[in-house]
Amino acid sequence: MNSTDVRRNFLEFFQERDHTFVQGSSLVPHDDPTLLFTNAGMVPFKDVFIGNAARDYVRATSCQRCVRAGGKHNDLEEVGYTARHLTLFEMLGNFSFGDYFKEDAIKWAWELSTERFGLDPERLYVSVFRDDDEAFEIWKSLGLPDAKIYRFGEKDNFWTMGDTGPCGPCSELFYDLGEEAGTSSEDVMGGEGDRYLEFYNLVFMQYESRADGTRIPLPRPSIDTGMGLERTAAILQGKLTNFDTDLFLPLIEEVRRATSQTQFDEQGQKIARQVISDHARTATFLIADGVLPSNLGRGYVLRRIMRRAIRYSYQLGIRKPFLHTLVPLV
Ligand code: ALA
Repeated sequence: MNSTDVRRNFLEFFQERDHTFVQGSSLVPHDDPTLLFTNAGMVPFKDVFIGNAARDYVRATSCQRCVRAGGKHNDLEEVGYTARHLTLFEMLGNFSFGDYFKEDAIKWAWELSTERFGLDPERLYVSVFRDDDEAFEIWKSLGLPDAKIYRFGEKDNFWTMGDTGPCGPCSELFYDLGEEAGTSSEDVMGGEGDRYLEFYNLVFMQYESRADGTRIPLPRPSIDTGMGLERTAAILQGKLTNFDTDLFLPLIEEVRRATSQTQFDEQGQKIARQVISDHARTATFLIADGVLPSNLGRGYVLRRIMRRAIRYSYQLGIRKPFLHTLVPLV
């Protein structure tokens, strides 16, 4: 399934279930000095979750471009070296503002994954927050054996957008890419390897973290989810990495064509192609959303991203200005 169809199927699935389609917003969060970039699909809805704003709908679905470089969620150094980290990705989300809660969120995630996307249930695993027996039981009622429902702690299964803002326990869906994706001791559920790929996170929003360190209950328990478009496309295209999907291949190929004399070995060249492709996407979208390279804040993160891409291009033997030639492909 190509990435356009993944995006469309997700949004249609939730529109069929009375979710209002909401356009993704800018990577520069509107009116929110606590956040460097829009880093999740829920960011434009932050005020709705904490009860400071109302919308004329209680269910929404969106596809949100997100940047995780700088700030609390920062994947910059991993990018290029793993199959799954990106500085920019698209997050597909379904949201409930005080409407449905755990049961529907879990059931629809399962139905979407196994029926609409046709994922083999044998390859699916889930995690829940350590004492969330309710989520555990809902997964069980869908036919998941106990052994495939993992209980993890705060680090893995309690989601926060930043130091402040709405937060809550979460439940994640993983797809087993098989031994081909990795066989190290980290290629286990909860490990850092690439074999068990987390592709969908369901957050049961229940609290707001305040600047003074306290956590207060939200006015209404809500749902915030995020499915990674690039990861899901990889699974549905039978690929082991984001970089082998239709979202990246044209960029990877262009970098390969431009490569000339390089001291990098095969593996080094592959990493360089992945870094450059990722960073070209991020730089393009940040600039399109009004960020310009500078010495400060957002502009400085963009500058670091561009500099990292340019350095890797140089190491691939590319001596002419190159990064901008990827913009039309992005
Ligand atoms: N906000 C949640 C996340 O980013 C869905 O994983």
